[in-house]
Formats: sequence, C-alpha cells, structure tokens
Amino acid sequence: MDKPVLRGEMVVLRPIRADDADAMWEMVNDPEGMRLTGTTTVFSRDQVDRWCAGVSAREDRLDLAITHGTDEYLGEIVLNEMDAYARSANLRLVLRPGQRGRGFGGEAISLVLGHAFAEPPEGLGLHRVSLDVLSINPRARMLYESLGFVVEGRLRESHRDGDFWCDSIVMAVLEDDFRAAQATSA
Ligand SMILES: CC(C)(COP(=O)(O)OP(=O)(O)OC[C@H]1O[C@@H](n2cnc3c(N)ncnc32)[C@H](O)[C@@H]1OP(=O)(O)O)[C@@H](O)C(=O)NCCC(=O)NCCS
Repeated sequence: MDKPVLRGEMVVLRPIRADDADAMWEMVNDPEGMRLTGTTTVFSRDQVDRWCAGVSAREDRLDLAITHGTDEYLGEIVLNEMDAYARSANLRLVLRPGQRGRGFGGEAISLVLGHAFAEPPEGLGLHRVSLDVLSINPRARMLYESLGFVVEGRLRESHRDGDFWCDSIVMAVLEDDFRAAQATSA
C-alpha cells in the first residue's frame, strides 16, 4: 500500500516518521488524551521510538501524522484492523494537548474518509469505517455524527473511568453515508 499525503484547507496528513517520536511521546503521556481514548497501556520511550520508525512500512494499517502550517506532528489519525475482503477498517485519532478544538480533527477525518472510500488505486476502496467512542467523550461523538457516522450499539459499562464505569459506543460510516453527508454539507 502506498502511504499517501492528504492535503486539506487547514491540515496536511503525512506518513509517520522516526523523528515524530518526541511529539508522540508527549502525546502518550497526556492523561486527558489517554482517558478519552480509553488507553490503559503504558508505553516506554523505546517502544515509541521503534513504533515511529517502523509503522509506515506496515501494509496492514495506515498511520498519518496531522500537521498544520509546518511539518510538525500535532497528532495522528489511523486506519487499522483493515479487512480486505469485507472492505472495512477501524478509525482512531488523537491530537496533542493544545491542538484540540481548532477544527483539525474534523478535517483530518474528512480527508481520511475521502481516501478510504475512493476507488483504488488512488483510494482504498473501503465500504465501511467504524470506531468506538467512550460515553465520557461527547465532543468526539458529536464530531463523528456531524461527519456521517451512525451509532450502531453501546457496550454498557465496558470501560473503567477512575471510580466509575463508562460505555463504549460503536459507530460506523458506510460509503453511501459519507457521500450523503458530503452532498448535504456541500
Ligand atoms: C476528538 C478530537 C480528535 C477532535 O478533534 P478536534 O480538532 O478537537 O475537533 P474539531 O475542532 O474538529 O471539532 C470538535 C467539534 O465538537 C464540538 N464540541 C466541542 N466540545 C463539545 C462538547 N463538550 N460536546 C459536544 N460537542 C462539542 C465543537 O463545537 C466542534 O464542532 P463544530 O466543528 O461544529 O464547531 C480531539 O479533540 C482529541 O484529540 N481529543 C482527545 C482524544 C480523543 O478524544 N480522541 C478520540 C477518541 S474516540
């Protein structure tokens, strides 16, 4: 799979590189980002270095850095769990603290969905992109809905949030949903 560079009005998405490790290390040590993404794994600096150096060579996933103005890694957007037969994938994204609420996440998702649903060889020719969002994360959920994602189910109290439980909400967008949402916003 050729790893693309995707250009929007505000952000440019480019493949992750070894020299993104400092910024990614900051991001994986942000408690709010870890809480909102439901990440409980603790990464070592060595793991982050090796991940950044190697992930863009992997055929089974697409990991793109979100940049704005300069080439600096401000966060990342990922298509993983790719299933070539079902033409489906899972999406996740996270921005560094200080980069949220500026519209970067929304534009990054639109660019990746445009690439995911475009016909090969330019795009990936996917039919379905799904994700999980926690019930403690209304910002992300509203954003996904505004881009055409539909709630499909709720895994009740599947995650721990400190002393409480929270739900995992399953959402997905099909290629027709995405085109309909694009036509409405055009
Ligand atoms: C989720 C995330 C990627 C979104 O990216 P972003 O750049 O901050 O989002 P945007 O600025 O593009 O859009 C946010 C939208 O949510 C809205 N919003 C903000 N706070 C909200 C809240 N508490 N409830 C509902 N909507 C909210 C904003 O008004 C905006 O909508 P608009 O474009 O119509 O104005 C980013 O905030 C992030 O990294 N958060 C921490 C990690 C995370 O939650 N990852 C997702 C896990 S599923």
